[in-house]
Amino acid sequence: MIGTGYVGLVSGVCFADIGNQVICVDKDKNKIDKLNSGISPIYEPGLYELIKKNFTAKRLSFTSNIDRAINTSDIIFICVGTPTKKGSINVDLSFVYKCTKEILKYSKRKKIIVTKSTVPVGTGDEIEKILKKKKKLFTVISNPEFLREGEAIRDFRYPDRIVVGSNEKKPLNIMRKLYAPITNKGSKFFTTSRRGAELIKYASNAFLATKITFINELANLCERSGVNVEDISLGMGSDSRIGGRFLRAGPAYGGSCFPKDTKGLVSVAEKYKINLSVVKSVIKSNQERVNLLTKRVHKILGSNLKNKKISFLGVTFKPNTDDMRDSTSLKMIPYLCKKGAVVNYYDPSGHKKEFKKIKNCFFKRDIKSNCLKADLIILLTEWDEFKSLNFRSITKNKKVKVYDLRNLYNNDEMKKDNLEYYSIGRS
Ligand code: UGA
Repeated sequence: MIGTGYVGLVSGVCFADIGNQVICVDKDKNKIDKLNSGISPIYEPGLYELIKKNFTAKRLSFTSNIDRAINTSDIIFICVGTPTKKGSINVDLSFVYKCTKEILKYSKRKKIIVTKSTVPVGTGDEIEKILKKKKKLFTVISNPEFLREGEAIRDFRYPDRIVVGSNEKKPLNIMRKLYAPITNKGSKFFTTSRRGAELIKYASNAFLATKITFINELANLCERSGVNVEDISLGMGSDSRIGGRFLRAGPAYGGSCFPKDTKGLVSVAEKYKINLSVVKSVIKSNQERVNLLTKRVHKILGSNLKNKKISFLGVTFKPNTDDMRDSTSLKMIPYLCKKGAVVNYYDPSGHKKEFKKIKNCFFKRDIKSNCLKADLIILLTEWDEFKSLNFRSITKNKKVKVYDLRNLYNNDEMKKDNLEYYSIGRS
């Protein structure tokens, strides 16, 4: 596994756990040292235990020696980052191509090269071009990953489907064997062309982002028309053609994938002179959502936020992860602080370097000290420990207001507690 980010590390550890000999390689020596001393560089439920188990069983090793890793392996998974290029919507494939060149340099015998990183359609062809000097040694295939942060291990073990794209038959059989312990439990093994697999990944992420954006826009309409958006999600989602998942209205979608991959898909389509107007609207609507929800704080607290005490519950883009990438908090908190508010935040995954330099923003170690004197509590991330809070007992301010961006709480119960309560897509 080249690259020990979310995808590479989780997949590597899980492949080891189903009995394979796995070497995880990363150029970041610090990360490798951490892994070798039993520390997981990322926060992912259950991962630490699996690392320990498979490391001790000697099925899993970590190294920064790419030469050794490449030469010992039969199958090489490329799991490096494919970020958005600065100042554009294009995908930066430099890490993918760099490790392809290393594979070319060090390989002495036949290998299957698998792209697990999310790569634009046609990237496999480019990889093949780089490898053409030793063409006979390599087969390049695509096997995109669909795991979600925070639920990555479960998603790896029980995926809806495994997608493998190859222009040749033989590697498909090898991959089928590799995934047999998972497909034996009922997951579908779907094969297609290499380009097909590359595009399935982008299409899936863009479609899920579209579902979320759709329900978020409908939530705005629900608020005005006196309808509960959760009823809409349930009523629509019960139609099996639509499906109920990813129809939870909330803040703008974030994370390391949806924002990056929607832009990446539009950029690739532009190269083929195709206008993906739906995906473009989704990107725009999602960006506007951050502003819309931020401005609502003024509606709740008034135009002057000077010295208002605002407490955030959760700042990561979703629960069960320490990942801050494209979280709504990254825009909301600096804005509110700039307007003079004093912002406290508590997140179960700890303090965040992103807010360190903001002088009126403070990390608190627990829910109570975070919310004690709050004028407004903003629930941003639906961590389990926030699900049954008694707001009256965590704050001393009788006039506290609650702004729930994930609809965790019930309107009637909040009313019973005499709390001024705002949520998403409810009248
Ligand atoms: C996403 C996909 O779900 C994975 O299948 C994919 O493998 C991954 O990207 C990737 O490309 O690597 P992830 O970004 O980890 O996974 O997290 P999600 O659970 O999909 O959540 C993404 C964002 O959508 C979060 O901000 C979440 O709060 C938001 N969301 C999700 C909603 O607002 N409403 C929903 O109903 C579902």
